Amino acid sequence: MAGTDQNARSSSDSATDSTPVSVSEAVDRRMSCRAFLDTPVADEVIAELLVKSSRAPSGGNVQPWKIYIVNGETMNRFRKRVAETDIEPPGYDIYPAKLWEPHRTARFELGEQMYALLGIAREDKAGRLERMAENYNFFGAPAALFCFLDGRMLPPQWSDCGMFLQTFMLLAVEAGLATCPQEIWTTRSRLVADFVGAPDKLMLFCGMAIGHPDTDHPVNRLRSERLRLDQFVTWVD
Ligand SMILES: Cc1cc2nc3c(=O)[nH]c(=O)nc-3n(C[C@H](O)[C@H](O)[C@H](O)COP(=O)(O)O)c2cc1C
Repeated sequence: MAGTDQNARSSSDSATDSTPVSVSEAVDRRMSCRAFLDTPVADEVIAELLVKSSRAPSGGNVQPWKIYIVNGETMNRFRKRVAETDIEPPGYDIYPAKLWEPHRTARFELGEQMYALLGIAREDKAGRLERMAENYNFFGAPAALFCFLDGRMLPPQWSDCGMFLQTFMLLAVEAGLATCPQEIWTTRSRLVADFVGAPDKLMLFCGMAIGHPDTDHPVNRLRSERLRLDQFVTWVD
């Protein structure tokens, strides 16, 4: 339920300290951060995370990910460009047209929990839209990456990109940083491709906000729920 201890994490256990963490701790601490401080992140730090992340597995070792980094002054220019443009038809369908259970409820509850933490009521459509639009500001993050792959690649290679991105996000926790993967950028894919100079043959999968979390912001107290084992595991006799 929204606002209960189960769904809220205290500011002390979010991904802020850069002490060594076990894999289990990094997995547990990683969360989609939706409010960042403007504290800069050096290119060198991001480069090191990318080098380490490139150890991620991929089918046939094809390594289909193509990553573009937007940081510092470039981020200021990017934000200006975003503000000057409208959203576009998405480059791909983010979800199936009619999501079914239990996924439909999981998605619905995520939104309800988040808006409850922010005190935005269901009837407050403008408030919800405004909050959604924060995605296009990378939730205030000073740095971001965009993950593209060749448009001729197939579902297995999209999955490879997911592995790369998760590896990056876990390593970011170890480095004391927070992240938010963002497929919403598919609704700005032309603008993004144009800005970063990606060739036409590349397709944008998602963006990712990178930075230091604002641990006092209520949205970062969200601890998203997970399905129970019996909802996604079958033990075969
Ligand atoms: C590929 C991908 C794309 C996502 N896109 C968005 C997005 O556009 N905006 C957003 O706020 N969260 C986005 N998320 C975050 C998910 O909502 C989040 O991972 C999920 O609710 C689980 O919460 P957690 O990441 O805090 O554990 C995305 C996650 C993934 C893996």
